[in-house]
Amino acid sequence: MAKEKENKNKKTGQIKKTVNVGILGFGTVGSGTARILVENKDLLSARLGFPVTLKKIADLDIKKDRGIALGKDVLTTDARQVTDNPDIDIVVELIGGLGVARQLMMRAIKNGKHIVTANKALLAEHGQEIFGAAKKCGVNVGFEASVGGGIPIIKALGEGLIANRINYVYGIVNGTSNYILTKMTNEGVEFSKVLKEAQELGYAEADPTLDVGGADSAHKLAILASLAFGIPLSYESVYTEGITGITPLDISFASELGFKIKLLAIAKAADGQVELRVHPTMLPKDYLISKVDGVMNAIYVNGQETGDTLYYGRGAGDMPTGSAVVSDIAGIAQRIMSGAPPKSGLGAIKMKKSGPPMGLRRMDEVESMYYFRFSALDRPMVLSKISGVLGENNISIASVIQKGRKEGGAVPLVILTHKAMERNVRKALKKIDSLRAVVTGKTCLIRVEGEE
Ligand code: HSE
Repeated sequence: MAKEKENKNKKTGQIKKTVNVGILGFGTVGSGTARILVENKDLLSARLGFPVTLKKIADLDIKKDRGIALGKDVLTTDARQVTDNPDIDIVVELIGGLGVARQLMMRAIKNGKHIVTANKALLAEHGQEIFGAAKKCGVNVGFEASVGGGIPIIKALGEGLIANRINYVYGIVNGTSNYILTKMTNEGVEFSKVLKEAQELGYAEADPTLDVGGADSAHKLAILASLAFGIPLSYESVYTEGITGITPLDISFASELGFKIKLLAIAKAADGQVELRVHPTMLPKDYLISKVDGVMNAIYVNGQETGDTLYYGRGAGDMPTGSAVVSDIAGIAQRIMSGAPPKSGLGAIKMKKSGPPMGLRRMDEVESMYYFRFSALDRPMVLSKISGVLGENNISIASVIQKGRKEGGAVPLVILTHKAMERNVRKALKKIDSLRAVVTGKTCLIRVEGEE
C-alpha cells in the first residue's frame, strides 16, 4: 500500500505499478538490453522501488535464439506493436541508421512515448527534429548509449560536471579504429590487412566507412560538445579525417619521436569559440590516453574547477551498451513514476545556444603542432627549400628526421613543427607539393597534441 502511494503520478493522480518498455531492434545492443532487463529485473526493481517490464521487442528476425527467457507474446515483427502500444511507456530504438529508425522514433514521440536510443548518427544529424518533437510532446529522450558504450559520459557531462565551465573534451570514441591502429602499431602491418582481419573476426563492420572514415567519432563529438558547451548539435561543422591514410611508416616515425597515433575526437573552447575536429593525432607515449588500446574507449573532460577527469571503458558491445540503455530506462522510469516533467536544462541537448555565446572556430583558424612526412628528392637544397616555404608561412620547425639514401629518388623527410595555424600549413603544403624538383608526392600530415 505504501509503495502504491509513492508511485502516484503527481500530474494524473494515477497509481502506476510498473513502467513498461518496448524495444525496436533485437540485434547486438537490443539483445544486451533485453538480457539486462530480464536477468537483472529483481535488482532493478529493488533499486527503483518498482518493476520495469519488458513488454515487446520488434525485429524482422524473431526466430533466432538469443538465449534470453522472454514471455510468449514479447516478440513481434510489427514495429507498431511497440510504437503505438498504449501499454508501453518507453520506446527503446536500437535499429540504428537514419531511415526506418527515424520514422519509428518520430512516430513513437508523437504517440507520447519516452525514447531511449543508442543512435548517435540519428541524433547528431537529425537531433533538432527529434529533440524538438520530444519537447513539443513532453517526452524524454535518453541517449547515454550513444557515446562511449558502457561509459556514463553523458551523465558525467550533463550532471556530474554541471558546476564546471568546460575547457575541453577529447577522446578515443571509436573502438574499431582504435583496434586497427593498435594492431598496426604492435605488428607493423598495413591498414588494409588489419581491416580485413578485423572484418573476418567480426570486430569491424562489413561496411566500415563510418568507423574508419571518422564520421562515427564526429557524430559522438557533436553530442558531447553540445552538452559540454551548450551549443546546438553541430555535426556538419566537425572537421573529420579518418585513419585510412595512416601507414606503418608514420607509426614507426611517430614512435621514434616519442608518440603514439590515435584517432581523436577533440572539442576545445577558447576565446568564446569552440573547435570541433576528428583526425588521427600524435600523442606523447606517456599520456594515459596513449595507453588506451584495442577496442577500448577513453574520454578526457577538462573542467575549470575539476581539472582533467578521465572516463575509460568499453565503447561498444551488447552488455556495456545495454547497461547504458538500461540506465536511461531507469532514469526515465523514475521521472514517470514521480510525475516529473521531461528533462530540459540539465544534461539535455540544446535547441539553441545557452550560457555565454560560443561561436564555432573554422578549421582554418585552428592551431596545432604538426608532423609532416615529405617524399623528398634526395639531392642538395631540398631541405632548405622546404624549410624556406614553411618559414615564409610562419611555421616554425621543432625537429627533423631524414633516413636512407636514394640518389635521384625520394626518401622520407619528417618534420615536426611548433604550434602553427592550419591555414598557413595548408598554404605551405600546397606550395611544397607543387615543387616537382623537391618532392615526388603528396605530403602526409598528422596533427600533434601535447606540450610544446
Ligand atoms: N562502431 C562503434 C565503434 C561502436 O567501433 O566504436 C558503436 O558506437
